[in-house]
Amino acid sequence: MKNNGLEDVIAAETRLSDVDGEAGRLVIRGVSLDLLVERATYEDAAALLLDGFLERAVTAADLKVRLGQARAEVFAHVRAADAALLSLPPVDAMRALIARLPDGEDFETTLRLLAAPAVFLPAVLRLQKGETPVAPTPSLSQSADILAMLNASLPTREQVAALDAYLVMIADHGLNASTFASRVVASTGAGLTSSVLAAISALKGPLHGGAPGPVLDMLDAIGSEDNAKAWLGQALDRGERLMGFGHRIYRVRDPRADALKGALRPLVMTGQVDPDRIRLAEAVEQAALAILRERKPDRPLDVNVEFYTALLLDALKFPRAAFTGVFAIGRTVGWVAHAREQALEGRLIRPRSVYVGPLPQAA
Ligand code: CMC
Repeated sequence: MKNNGLEDVIAAETRLSDVDGEAGRLVIRGVSLDLLVERATYEDAAALLLDGFLERAVTAADLKVRLGQARAEVFAHVRAADAALLSLPPVDAMRALIARLPDGEDFETTLRLLAAPAVFLPAVLRLQKGETPVAPTPSLSQSADILAMLNASLPTREQVAALDAYLVMIADHGLNASTFASRVVASTGAGLTSSVLAAISALKGPLHGGAPGPVLDMLDAIGSEDNAKAWLGQALDRGERLMGFGHRIYRVRDPRADALKGALRPLVMTGQVDPDRIRLAEAVEQAALAILRERKPDRPLDVNVEFYTALLLDALKFPRAAFTGVFAIGRTVGWVAHAREQALEGRLIRPRSVYVGPLPQAA
């Protein structure tokens, strides 16, 4: 039986995360998303996801120390960023630097892969602006150090908490396209670096992790609440999709959307994000939901993770061209955990296709 898009096909058994699209619920290793975001730092979530998939046990505290060292180690590769590499979009430049890292299956490879995007993305962004990259500070947490390397100053407590919340909430999400790509590569025995490179390549498309930059473009183009309905209607008339809406699995609101709004709140309350921007986004969200209900009555389309991601990453001063790269920083641990699970418990992934081309002519 052919299934375009593999919709509803079960291609793996996993202990990592469960996405319930009807209930709008995400569970990561037995912990509900809300609880995880409220209680976990990036290091806690990473230790939880990797538990049982490495050759040794690792605690969050252990991981914090080892990740700090790994960031310092991979920073040496920033030197390889030449003019050709820096002319690429940030996520492609980051991927090219990661491609220089050795492949492997072990804890050291895992550490390098978790550290690399966190170091390379801020460095690439600074170099592209003609600024000197900021070296990592190993004693900081991963989130604090990313912001310190990006802005060359120590972040506020609220900024660190917001980035931690974001990285935790996107760490894993069932068998999405990039995670599947990671597992396909892992199933051939190619190694974790190869899996992560394949996953980044799948992530960057606008139908997956490439949407939050365009969400911000959309908010800028709409400009004011009064313009939302007309602008969105014209976009749909042109046959465009509204960025930040719809999902292959969720038939209700993506639970990460409200978790992101919650993560933004302390920044709003402390004056670190423009409240008018949030008001505009909420108005656009309501207008989009109304018009999607009207135009696509048979397809429940609701807000997805990318909509409020755009506001959160903008508030943390990431340029919009880098949003997909920040998504990759958070999702790498999920890709690695899935790749290890596949390598340890799965077998070669090799589906079949139906040939619909011409048959050879009879002689
Ligand atoms: N705006 C307008 N119409 C839409 C949208 C949208 N955002 N999403 C789906 N539709 C329509 C689509 O045109 C189709 O209508 P019709 O049957 O009349 O042709 C119908 O809904 C079903 O769409 P589909 O292509 O079968 O849905 P899918 O499951 O393949 O697509 C999606 C899921 C996320 C690719 C899609 O909703 C989309 O393109 N959204 C906009 C881009 C976006 O926000 N991407 C981020 C995804 S969430 C991050 C992640 O987890 O990766």
